[in-house]
Amino acid sequence: MSLLRPLITAVALGALAAMPDAGAAQAGRATFGALADGTRIQAVDLSSRTGIRARIITLGARIQSLYTPDRTGKPDDIVLGFASPQQYFDDGNYFGATVGRFANRIGKGRFTLDGHAYQLATNDHGNSLHGGTRGFDKRVWKIDSITSGRSASVTMSYVSPDGEEGYPGTMHVTATYTLSDSGELRIDYRASTDKPTIVNLSGHSYFNLASGPADFSTMPDLLQIDASRYTPVDEVLIPTGEIAPVAGTPLDFRKPTPIGLHIRDGNDAQIRYCHGYDMNFVLDGRPGTLRRAARVADPRSGRVLEVYTTAPGVQFYSGNFLSGTVIGKSGIAYRQGDAVVLEPQDFPDAPNHANFPSARLDPGTTYHNVIVYRFSVQR
Ligand code: GLA
Repeated sequence: MSLLRPLITAVALGALAAMPDAGAAQAGRATFGALADGTRIQAVDLSSRTGIRARIITLGARIQSLYTPDRTGKPDDIVLGFASPQQYFDDGNYFGATVGRFANRIGKGRFTLDGHAYQLATNDHGNSLHGGTRGFDKRVWKIDSITSGRSASVTMSYVSPDGEEGYPGTMHVTATYTLSDSGELRIDYRASTDKPTIVNLSGHSYFNLASGPADFSTMPDLLQIDASRYTPVDEVLIPTGEIAPVAGTPLDFRKPTPIGLHIRDGNDAQIRYCHGYDMNFVLDGRPGTLRRAARVADPRSGRVLEVYTTAPGVQFYSGNFLSGTVIGKSGIAYRQGDAVVLEPQDFPDAPNHANFPSARLDPGTTYHNVIVYRFSVQR
């Protein structure tokens, strides 16, 4: 044993020396499992010196787990999800997924482009939600590349055929996840097309900044959304086309406010239609520039999440459809209000509202949406 030890140490050190920047951010491949039909789902594990690590899987180019330290330094997985691929495939909550081609809703699944009327697959009260019956969240993406060094990253891609779910044009999409040593996880979504079409890609992570199941409700979390306006919706959550001020409504999160403070305000029609929060906020500042969209702070664990984006809006969804029937990866039954979902994106139903920023994509141009999750702790 004593004779063997120096040999083993030498091998281990040799392996370290061969790495690009030993001890820096690392990306490594793993297998996550297989779908019931045998399709293998791959994983890429990203880790950094900050103690943050994330697992990205090829089913839906999604975040399957994300560990960040709480104020005592204890790491916990702060996203909802499952331990096996088939559970993701059978579930309708889009946990951690890349959603598209069009994140959020398109009224009746219809839109017109250059005089041509398109009918999309409908899957939500007669409307099209998050890409239709089988959106990007249920597609198996390809790992294009991984890198380690100053930051760890993975790029996954998917080619969506012309006409898929009713959308025109062959669309080439990439999702790049980059974990840096500064405590940030960044997502770059890019898309190109061979015919005029529409696109709206977003990340659908359900954050829960708790340090354990006892403090799981997100209702005491302090939320701040950097938006003075929002897009009101009708009973089936399709925008009316109006852009209204948040001032004087339960949607005013311009200052840090406990999520639970107004969530039961039955006098507010928007809260009633959404069963809580499920609205698109019009972000202050200029779309196309990276600016803060929101900040969530869990006073119990000390974790703070800030979300930055280049997108014009952010959907804040308070996990209203979680009913205790879905059992997550750690055996926790997910209930209403157990998560904060912040989806930076174009406005819902944008193709049907001339006054909303355009979601059109033409051949020869590249769509790009940046989302940055910045993690820290408050002592
Ligand atoms: C989005 C929608 C919600 C809901 C969830 C997934 O956040 O706005 O209404 O559909 O996705 O359950």
